Amino acid sequence: MKDLWRTLPNWRHHAAVWCRLCALGCLLCALAYGQSENPARRPIAFADLPSALCPWLETQQFTRENFASQIAALQRQTAARQQVGEFDHLIFFVLQSTRFTARTKVEPALSAYEFVQGLSKEERAKFLADDANFLPPRARMPEAARARLSEFAQVVQRKKATVETDERLAYFQSWVQKQRAPEIALESLLFVEYARVMRFLYRKEFAGRELTPADLAAYVARLYQERGHSTDTQIEANFAVYTALAALRAAEPTTRLNNVLIVGPGLDFAPRTDLLELFGPQSYQPFAVADALLGLGLADADRLRIHCVDINERVITHLQGLRQRTEITLALLSGIADTPTHPLTEDFKSYFKQFGRNLGKETALAVPAPYAAHLKKSLRIDTTRNVRITADRLNIITERYAPSPAYDLVVVTNVFPYFKPAELLLALTNLSAMMAEGGYLLHNELQTVPSTFVTPLGLPLVQARTVLLADSQTTPLFDGVALHRLHRRI
Ligand SMILES: C[S@@+](CC[C@H](N)C(=O)[O-])C[C@H]1O[C@@H](n2cnc3c(N)ncnc32)[C@H](O)[C@@H]1O
Repeated sequence: MKDLWRTLPNWRHHAAVWCRLCALGCLLCALAYGQSENPARRPIAFADLPSALCPWLETQQFTRENFASQIAALQRQTAARQQVGEFDHLIFFVLQSTRFTARTKVEPALSAYEFVQGLSKEERAKFLADDANFLPPRARMPEAARARLSEFAQVVQRKKATVETDERLAYFQSWVQKQRAPEIALESLLFVEYARVMRFLYRKEFAGRELTPADLAAYVARLYQERGHSTDTQIEANFAVYTALAALRAAEPTTRLNNVLIVGPGLDFAPRTDLLELFGPQSYQPFAVADALLGLGLADADRLRIHCVDINERVITHLQGLRQRTEITLALLSGIADTPTHPLTEDFKSYFKQFGRNLGKETALAVPAPYAAHLKKSLRIDTTRNVRITADRLNIITERYAPSPAYDLVVVTNVFPYFKPAELLLALTNLSAMMAEGGYLLHNELQTVPSTFVTPLGLPLVQARTVLLADSQTTPLFDGVALHRLHRRI
């Protein structure tokens, strides 16, 4: 024992040197892979939750005793929902892409309608029932969809599958191969996923028509809390973000928001409708937030850092890939058209017009005739100047960066509707812990985030408003935005 103690200082010295070498090695690896900025993380613990909400959490089956296993279960559920989401995108791609077939595009929601209408009354009832595991006969699949699925399966099975140059096609070809058990024919797998996606779309778009508006909203909200995770994103989501930041700037002109977190920036990859393959996959939100902060004078070009977290590896890989480039060209196209019956508001049009002016140079964007009425432009961004974007895979429900990176601003749009109430509380708890005292949380879910959650977290609502994107007699298009400010010591 004595000898051991005598050798200990020496051993400690070697260990310390070894640790430093390891740390240096890790740092070099991290730098090489562009990961150096990712802070340390840990899973959420029961003690992190506001004690006032623990009794409510227990009603949701989260107790001190089962907490770790519940969090592990949520991790697994998120991974499963993320995979289901990738299958959703795959089916949207197969129905709409022009990169592997000359066949006419199939609009996914219309295909859902045709598929369900083609079922017998009994089949339809079983298929649409709440706990349905019923798979209709494959012969019921509409011919246009069947032909596309079949051609895609042939393309995947072609020997030199990986030489495809189209980014989306190459991704789905290799992704679907990895998901498939060898004994299952690819066409069978695609049909199972097609039927599942069609069931969701039919239920969302058509099944609730007889419900009152309030019941319909609750029904769709429930569907979202169960569905696969989508990465869809459009420019439009950032108009509300800009509006809230402009109001903040007017109220607090000296505020500085240089350390920013975006949760779920998304990637325009294979959207449910209007897949446009003229442009590669794009993520807009990191640029939109940087542009807004710089333009409003809320951030400093030399200090602004935008960190993005997402559960989807495809999103993270895309954002990390941008860091290797000195110049990025964004093709900006509004998701909605400006038409006489559904005109875009002047506020939204002027937002689109000034979008990106603090980041780069604009040029005209040529688009196919059906998009003539959409707002459009191309934006060339010099990434060596004023925008520093990093990205990391993090599940905001189950984990957090610790010690806190003290974000001045957290932006979360179109992510919370996917969370059940307990998941939302966990996410808000993690987010508040990662914010600086006096920092802001900005989201667009006026109805979804209850004051009973944010008050005990010291994250009260300081601003809420709705913004109008497009006017119409019957279907005006609104978004909402809410801003919370963290005061841990209130
Ligand atoms: C519908 S997209 C929204 C994209 C963008 N924020 C927008 O408003 O256009 C939702 C994004 O959130 C990500 N996401 C979902 N759950 C998440 C979680 N628990 N933690 C981090 N990201 C998540 C998804 O992978 C996806 O990229």
